[in-house]
Amino acid sequence: MPAIAKAQPNIALIKYWGKRDSELNLPAVGSISITLSELFTEMSVELDDSFSEDQLAVNGAQNRSLLPRVQRCLDSVLGDQRQFARVASRSNFPIAAGLASSASAFSALVIAAAGAGGQVRDTAVLANLAGRTSGSAARSLYGGFVELENHADEVKVASIRAADEWPLRVVVAVTSSGPKATSSGDAMEISRNTSPFYSRWVEQQPQDLDIARVAINDRDFEKLATIAEHNCLKMHSVMWASRPPVMFWNSATIECMQVVRELRAQGVAVFFTIDAGPQLKAVCLPADESRVSDALAAIAGVSDIMLSGLGEGAALVRNTCIQ
Ligand code: DP6
Repeated sequence: MPAIAKAQPNIALIKYWGKRDSELNLPAVGSISITLSELFTEMSVELDDSFSEDQLAVNGAQNRSLLPRVQRCLDSVLGDQRQFARVASRSNFPIAAGLASSASAFSALVIAAAGAGGQVRDTAVLANLAGRTSGSAARSLYGGFVELENHADEVKVASIRAADEWPLRVVVAVTSSGPKATSSGDAMEISRNTSPFYSRWVEQQPQDLDIARVAINDRDFEKLATIAEHNCLKMHSVMWASRPPVMFWNSATIECMQVVRELRAQGVAVFFTIDAGPQLKAVCLPADESRVSDALAAIAGVSDIMLSGLGEGAALVRNTCIQ
């Protein structure tokens, strides 16, 4: 019987950008994110002595290019003497397009792998194992508002406010659903090695984390909006100043940013954030959601709008849509 886990992507408000140890995939900075409720990845892992090799299917198609990363993640949970595995994942949103699909995929994978191996593992341990494969995945083990702190040779991840304590809404404006040209991991290394702004980025992160933590604690939307947009634009400035420059935005991304800023100037409670891809995520109060989504949907170049609230961390599930 396969073990099946379900996980939601998370969107960083104070971003992880840069690695202090690329071997162990340890982040250079702490980060704060929100876990979504409506977007998800379901991951099934089956171990059996009769299998002659590992197999991975992504959204119904065999996938060999992602297999090595999945194998390393399985080894980290089950040990490299493990049985061969049949792994299948299905997401209800575009993958590898800057929508945090690796976060939902690898957080689901560590839970499903532990389940398939009959292991009972602490969430903190699984978060570290997920983070070794993809830094942002460590946060998707937890729900609501999540902080990742850097410790000596590990990360410490915790929910700092539950999803229902401040039920923000997220409007995702999809401006391109194709895979991105540069992976986050490669782009981070280019930034670390070449951007003149990288060291200042790392130095300033504790201040941004402090401000965001207080804003979340006080449910101060304006304060969170200001620091989240600043942190996002600072991360992208680090990338733009890299050699070669790393640019994930397209013209629709910029138009979405302008629309969000205009709405905010008109008193709408909304701010934007953008990750390693051209999609814009607008975070708003529930009363403003339809106004925000209508305004973003009207932009030429926005091909799809996805709506979500804040959700729970990754977990084993019984029911599945995986065939
Ligand atoms: C811009 O977690 O995808 O989304 O550790 O190399 O897999 P790897 O990177 P990944 O990077 C996420 C970068 C980001 C910001 C964030 O989620 O904090």
